[in-house]
Amino acid sequence: MIDKTTLVANWKMNPPSLKEAKKLYAATKKAAVGARGVRVVVAPPAVFLSPLAKGRRGRNAAFAVQNAHFEKSGAHTGEISYAQAKDTGVAYAIIGHAERRAAGEMNDDVRKKVAAALTSGVVPIICIGEKERSDSGEYFGVVKEQLHSAYTNVPQKRIASTLVAYEPVWAIGAEEAMKPNDMQEMVIFIRKCIAEMYAPAQVSTFPMILYGGAIDAGNARDMLAQGDIGGFLVGRSSTNIKKVTALFNALR
Ligand code: PGA
Repeated sequence: MIDKTTLVANWKMNPPSLKEAKKLYAATKKAAVGARGVRVVVAPPAVFLSPLAKGRRGRNAAFAVQNAHFEKSGAHTGEISYAQAKDTGVAYAIIGHAERRAAGEMNDDVRKKVAAALTSGVVPIICIGEKERSDSGEYFGVVKEQLHSAYTNVPQKRIASTLVAYEPVWAIGAEEAMKPNDMQEMVIFIRKCIAEMYAPAQVSTFPMILYGGAIDAGNARDMLAQGDIGGFLVGRSSTNIKKVTALFNALR
């Protein structure tokens, strides 16, 4: 039974300054206070994590790192580790986002990052989703492969310490989200894949599944009502004060 709706606010490379990040975070927290049934996970650019986490208060807000390296430390100029992210107050990690995959991240990198996040005590939010759909349905195979790879090093007892964010790439940044029915079909498929991986009889806990791609105040309620999901991974509607406030209001 899912007690609260989880809203992951993926700020991506926004906003442009710490001052604006603080304003956006304050507005997000304020909106979250009014929506008791929502748990918010804010994923700001990594350089803003420490200053924002200092002002963290309230049970309903947590932080996520948008990306990190799978090694613990070493000669990796420009990278940060999951342990370092955790040290700034991060509880979650977005892993394998479509924009990182488009920049060259492979299923195998995702596998290593999921394992590294778990080792560092950070909950992975594993992003999967097909680039396109055709009638022949090969997108199911794409999703299955992404899942199989991501969970290769996750022991059964840690499944519940992971989240899956299903984000069809064609819906990210698009005008419209996918149809709730199609989303639900994929949610069932994702559960089936995970059950197969871990031998069905023993799977007692599945990961929470989030949906991402063009979620806003206008469609969030319907998606939640018509699909068996725990919440959303949100881009654009999380980086604009008006939109984020409206989104929380729609979910309260
Ligand atoms: P969007 O992005 O909400 O702006 O479509 C979603 C995402 O990239 O996760």
